[in-house]
Amino acid sequence: MERTFLMVKPDGVQRSLVGEVVSRFEKKGFTLAGAKVLAISKDLAETHYGEHKERPFFGELVDFITSGPVFAMVWEGENVIDEARKMMGKTNPQEAQPGTIRGDFGVQVSMNIIHGSDSQDSAKREIELFFGADELVTYEKTVNKWV
Ligand code: TYD
Ligand code: MG
Repeated sequence: MERTFLMVKPDGVQRSLVGEVVSRFEKKGFTLAGAKVLAISKDLAETHYGEHKERPFFGELVDFITSGPVFAMVWEGENVIDEARKMMGKTNPQEAQPGTIRGDFGVQVSMNIIHGSDSQDSAKREIELFFGADELVTYEKTVNKWV
């Protein structure tokens, strides 16, 4: 079954949106395989966002993601990588539709509440970067036959 890496960013944690975000993915019918609160080091931030190293916003992005605790998660389910991106909404909250997490809660692109893997390759890379195999659980939710 497909897995993705999602993370409530420091703005979402500070604004007490962790429960709201978790609730949306739970209600959608996805399965939580792992989760933890952590403070991201500068090294981890630079590796995680390595693809943006040359972009003008890279420094601010690293400063922001290390500015407070985050809530890192692994979610499992059918097509969960693309579905989670849809539920997050566009990168810039001002372009994100109402009903999406960024559209409902964000205003600025720099503080857009949530990160989500954008491909199978990035999901695998990000899950391995943030979680050890012993921190992830595989199980069946019996209710899944209803969704
Ligand atoms: P990106 O991977 O393009 O977006 P997404 O999070 O939707 O996959 O960019 C990573 C983060 O960098 C993005 O969530 C917010 C920040 N960012 C800016 O601060 N300014 C920008 O112009 C862009 C494109 C991103
Ligand atoms: Mg991205």
